[in-house]
Amino acid sequence: MAEKRSLWGSKIGFLLAAIGSAVGLGNIWRFSYMAYENGGGAFLIPYLVALLCAGVPLMILEYSLGHREKASPPLAFARINPLWEPLGWWMPVVAFFGINLFYAAVIGWCINYFGLSLTLGWGTDTQSFFFGEFLQLSDSPFTLGGIRWPVLAATAGAWAICWTICYREVSRGIEKASMIFMPLLVILTLILVGWSLRLDGAREAIREFYLKADLSKIALNTAEGRKVWVAAFGQIFFTLSLGFGIMITYASYLPKKTDITGNALTTCILNCLYSIIAGFAVFGTIGFMANAKGVPFDEAITSGPGLAFVVYPEAINQLPILNQLFGALFFLVLIVAGISSMISLTEAFSCSICDKFVISRQKATTIICSLGLIGSIPFTTRAGLLILDIADHFINNYALIIGGILECILIGWLLKSQVMRRHVNNSGGIRLWPVWDICIRVITPAVLLIMLVGALLEDFTRAYGAYPIKALLLFGGGILFVTRLLSFILSHVPWRPEKLKTKHHPEDENLLT
Ligand code: PFF
Repeated sequence: MAEKRSLWGSKIGFLLAAIGSAVGLGNIWRFSYMAYENGGGAFLIPYLVALLCAGVPLMILEYSLGHREKASPPLAFARINPLWEPLGWWMPVVAFFGINLFYAAVIGWCINYFGLSLTLGWGTDTQSFFFGEFLQLSDSPFTLGGIRWPVLAATAGAWAICWTICYREVSRGIEKASMIFMPLLVILTLILVGWSLRLDGAREAIREFYLKADLSKIALNTAEGRKVWVAAFGQIFFTLSLGFGIMITYASYLPKKTDITGNALTTCILNCLYSIIAGFAVFGTIGFMANAKGVPFDEAITSGPGLAFVVYPEAINQLPILNQLFGALFFLVLIVAGISSMISLTEAFSCSICDKFVISRQKATTIICSLGLIGSIPFTTRAGLLILDIADHFINNYALIIGGILECILIGWLLKSQVMRRHVNNSGGIRLWPVWDICIRVITPAVLLIMLVGALLEDFTRAYGAYPIKALLLFGGGILFVTRLLSFILSHVPWRPEKLKTKHHPEDENLLT
């Protein structure tokens, strides 16, 4: 009997889930800092170019592949060419083991800080509190120094929420959760932005550091300018959750008739719009803090965890009224954005396991979330932040980029991009132009290759973050090696014959000969 694949209950449900995956912690703390460092408003130029030449084309590619094959990444790749199955596994395996395990721990920090915000429990010296009292950070990635129990408890909470959502059928679990999370996220973010704009010093900081465009920073005839372009492409890939097989998985639950191009454009545009809007809250709040403390803006701003867990609490302390409410609002935004990305990272792996081992989604989710909780434990130790920093660097600079390049080669050259374009156009909705083929076959892989070479040159000249080489090899190279090995092993487990049977696509015949 043919097995029935889950389907989204509605188009909006699918879109909200895909946007939920894309909008995550990175939109809030990564985008703003990158914009600040790379020319303020001028950063929007490479960012939007990257969105159009690489983000949208790759999003269309992932949606169309998932929709055409109605399968998880390993099964979709294996159907096109069995030799490519290991890549199909690598994407969700890296997403799960390389990102999700630490993403859960960071959501655990946010949950703790949500609680702390209710009493401003981080005190007046927010830097010493975060690194010293809260994380009790050790001085080397090898000195685990025991578990931080409040972090582990909250991380377990994040896994429990994720399990509860992914356990149910797609339309009753992920879709329902996204229908609640996304509108909530938009409302909370708009309140935060509105509130931030009213703070003293906020508008000046936004005007001076966010909106003012320093075009010299993006000039392509300087090495610095070229770096900004590469950084913009990197941010687009990370923020759109591309290269990890997530969008392939989500699109595999779409009905036969669907607007692939329109859905891809909507996801990309709304995600980037969210980043730009959230930037007003970040710049406004930091501008207010710099003004209140009388320090220059560039001394106040920082990136990554420092922005959310040191600078924001400091700004919250300075607010004249309702500090606790502002703090709770900010950390709730991070939790909601984080969980909706976490469920997508879990779903991509769980769907792949269900396809290969033909087990129920309930069983797969339970095994995977339990494994996830155990795997998150190292990130809840006193060395957690250091291990996380190394793993994040290697995954974003290598795994994601290599995955993206190979994906373009597979679809652009081996399958032929015209086949996929024809599938998109036959599914209905906005027509996909032939220029997409050029993006997928040439532009996107070429830019990704430049990024890969740049990252390699940088890492071979200077040890990332001044960590010991042994630590980089173990926690960075090690993660890449172990995930490759696991993908290789998983791809050698035989498929049930009926699974692998390529769906017949008569429309492809004259294109494939
Ligand atoms: N796009 C998410 C963010 O910007 O935070 C992070 C992310 C989620 C990256 C899922 C990759 C991924 F597969």
